[in-house]
Amino acid sequence: MKKILLAAATLLLAVACGTPASKPEQTATPVVMGEQIDLQRPAAVGGATINEALWNRKSERAYTAEPLTLEELSGVVWAAAGINRPENDHLTAPSAMGLYPIRTYAFFKEGVYRYDARENRLVRVLEGDYRAVSGAQPFVATAPLNLVFVADRSVYDGRNIPEEHVRYLCGQDAAGYVENVNLYAAGHGLKAVTRGSVSPELLPTLGLDPDRYLFALAVSVGK
Ligand SMILES: Cc1cc2nc3c(=O)[nH]c(=O)nc-3n(C[C@H](O)[C@H](O)[C@H](O)COP(=O)(O)O)c2cc1C
Repeated sequence: MKKILLAAATLLLAVACGTPASKPEQTATPVVMGEQIDLQRPAAVGGATINEALWNRKSERAYTAEPLTLEELSGVVWAAAGINRPENDHLTAPSAMGLYPIRTYAFFKEGVYRYDARENRLVRVLEGDYRAVSGAQPFVATAPLNLVFVADRSVYDGRNIPEEHVRYLCGQDAAGYVENVNLYAAGHGLKAVTRGSVSPELLPTLGLDPDRYLFALAVSVGK
């Protein structure tokens, strides 16, 4: 009896602390595009090995219209910007000086969502198909998922960092997010491409002030 109680308490603690889900990955739950999308915690074990993912990684720009499942979407978003150390809210991707300027937006056919890493959910900011605004190439407008990384320059305020270097740091931070996605995709049978090109309409569409925010990088994902 004592053993059962101990196991139950350990499981509860793991769930509360946001440690990896221990059950094997399922890959078939459809995403319901509501006001928010509650994402799943990716399992500790899943996908190809790191070496296999590195061997597989390549840029792919042609996707079917098939949307990602909830499991795939959860894995991709968590790979990009998920918290992997709940004790200090640090992410799967590193950040220069730990300042985390990057906001993650997800563009789907049905709408645009912002990732809330603490709650591990996507929160809708716009309804409708704005995918074309998230890039500058035709395939972006039909890609099942475009993740766009927008940097908030204000995190560097008061640090006397030249503007050019701020832009560099934002790009470097975003590159980590994007490469995590590239490798996650390569390790889970998905296709992806890094994108540095974007429509000039991006910031106005998101209602973001260009004096404070800048487009850092994007990644398209599909099958
Ligand atoms: C910073 C950066 C920006 C990129 N921007 C784009 C882009 O806007 N559109 C695109 O189709 N590919 C883009 N790429 C992908 C490159 O074209 C691709 O990595 C390169 O051709 C090498 O091919 P590989 O990734 O298959 O090795 C970008 C890659 C990087 C690293």
